[in-house]
Amino acid sequence: MSSPAAGPLLTEIDHVAIAVRDLDAAIEYYRSTFGATVAHRERVESDGVEEALIKVADSYIQLITPTADDSTVAKFLERKGEGLHHVGYRVDDCGVALQAVKDAGGAVIDSEPRPGSRGTTVAFVHPKAAFGTLIELVQE
Ligand code: CO
Repeated sequence: MSSPAAGPLLTEIDHVAIAVRDLDAAIEYYRSTFGATVAHRERVESDGVEEALIKVADSYIQLITPTADDSTVAKFLERKGEGLHHVGYRVDDCGVALQAVKDAGGAVIDSEPRPGSRGTTVAFVHPKAAFGTLIELVQE
């Protein structure tokens, strides 16, 4: 298997996303237990989620909860319960990283990069292509 000629495409862990039923309760848990506070909170209507980003060094814990019963996170909670949902890796160029996944024959959820929260550009890689973990490519 060859590696990308330009070098490693993943530059940092951007966030670890955790699906929760009660966003405020989860935020309070991280605050009271770890002294961690919310750096950013946003409803992402296109994804049917509300998120709270808790900064940990240069990365985030992304707490996500569904805002619609038919959102993918709502289905995830129904199927698997609360817990680890996806890992977001920072990339310099979301389009280049997504193309590398496609070139390697991996299944993708987003065929093209799209807007994410915080003004980022993102694309999701299918977990079946990535040993069971949903991967988000995040370009800041
Ligand atoms: Co994410």
